[in-house]
Amino acid sequence: MPLVGGHRYFTSTAVFLNEVLKLAVSIGMALSETSEAMPGSPLTKLLPALSKAVFTSDSWKLAIPAGLYTFQNTLQYVAVSNLDAATFQVTYQLKILTTALFSVTMLNRSLSVKKWISLVLLMAGVAVVQLPSPGDSSSTSSKQNHARDAAEPQGGNASIGLVAVIIACAISGLAGVYFEKVLKDSNSNSSLWVRNVQLSFYSLFPAFFVGVLFKDGADIARDGFFAGYNWVVWLAITFQAFGGLVVALVVNYADNIAKNFATSISIILSLLASVWLFDFVITVNFLLGMLVVLYATYLYSSPDRKPDPIQTAVNRE
Ligand code: C5P
Repeated sequence: MPLVGGHRYFTSTAVFLNEVLKLAVSIGMALSETSEAMPGSPLTKLLPALSKAVFTSDSWKLAIPAGLYTFQNTLQYVAVSNLDAATFQVTYQLKILTTALFSVTMLNRSLSVKKWISLVLLMAGVAVVQLPSPGDSSSTSSKQNHARDAAEPQGGNASIGLVAVIIACAISGLAGVYFEKVLKDSNSNSSLWVRNVQLSFYSLFPAFFVGVLFKDGADIARDGFFAGYNWVVWLAITFQAFGGLVVALVVNYADNIAKNFATSISIILSLLASVWLFDFVITVNFLLGMLVVLYATYLYSSPDRKPDPIQTAVNRE
C-alpha cells in the first residue's frame, strides 16, 4: 500500500474509483450523443435509449479487455513491488513490440522492415531515457522514478517482478489491440463512448470483487474505504481516468502503435518539464535516449520507399 503524506491508501480502491470516474464521463458523453440523435427528448427517454445501446448482444466482447486490463493493472503492482522503479520502467517498454506483434497478427497489418527497426529503436530509446546515469546513484531519473512510486521495494523478488512485467507487456498489447479491433469492426455500429461505457462497466466487477473485496477486503473493513485519501490521491485517480479515456480516443482515431509513440514522447516532455518544476538535471542517457526516440518517430512516420515506376519500366525493357 503506497504511503501518501504519512497515511496509507488502498490501491484497489483507487483502481475501482478510476473505473467509476471513467464510467461517469463515458455515460455523460454517450448521453450527449444520444440527445443529438433524439433532439428535444427528455432524460426519461434518453436513458432507456442509452441502456439499449449499451446492453447489445455483442456488449460481452468488452468483458474481455476489461478483465485483461484489470489483470495487467494487478501485474504492474506485483512488478513495481518486486523491482526498482527504473528497472520496471525500462522493461515495461517491451510492450512496444508486443503491441506491434498483436497489430500484425490480429488486425492483419503489415509492417515494413523499416517500421520494425523504428519500433526497436523506440523501445531502446525510451528505455535509455529512464536509465540512471552510470555511477550516479543520485541520478535525477532515479529520483524521478522514486517520486513516481513511493513504495520502493525493499528486497523484492526480481524474478517474480520480471515475469510480471513480461506478462503485463503481453497483456498490454493484447488488450489494446483487441479493444482497437472491436472499435474498428465494420459490422459494429456502437460509438466510441458506448464502447467505453461497456468497458468501464465490465471493469467494475473485477476491480470491486478481485481488488477491493478479495485483495484488500479485510483491511478496508478495518481502516475504511477512503483511508489515507488526500487531494494528491484524488488527483492521481483523476489523471489515471482521463489518461485512460485519452488512450481510447487515440486508439479510435489513430492506433495502438501510434499511442506508444505518443506515450514515449510524453515521458520525454514530462522529464524536460521537470528541469523547471523539480531538480531534474539532464543526463547523457537522457539526451542519447531522446535523440533515439525522436529519430525512431521520424523513421516510423516517413513513407515507406515504393518501387520507382520509371526505374521498374526501364528494368523491364
Ligand atoms: O500500459 P498501457 O499503454 O497498456 O496502458 C493503457 C491504459 O489505458 C490501461 O491502464 C487501461 O486501463 C487504459 N485504457 C482505458 N480505457 C480504454 C483503453 C485503455 O482506461 N478504452
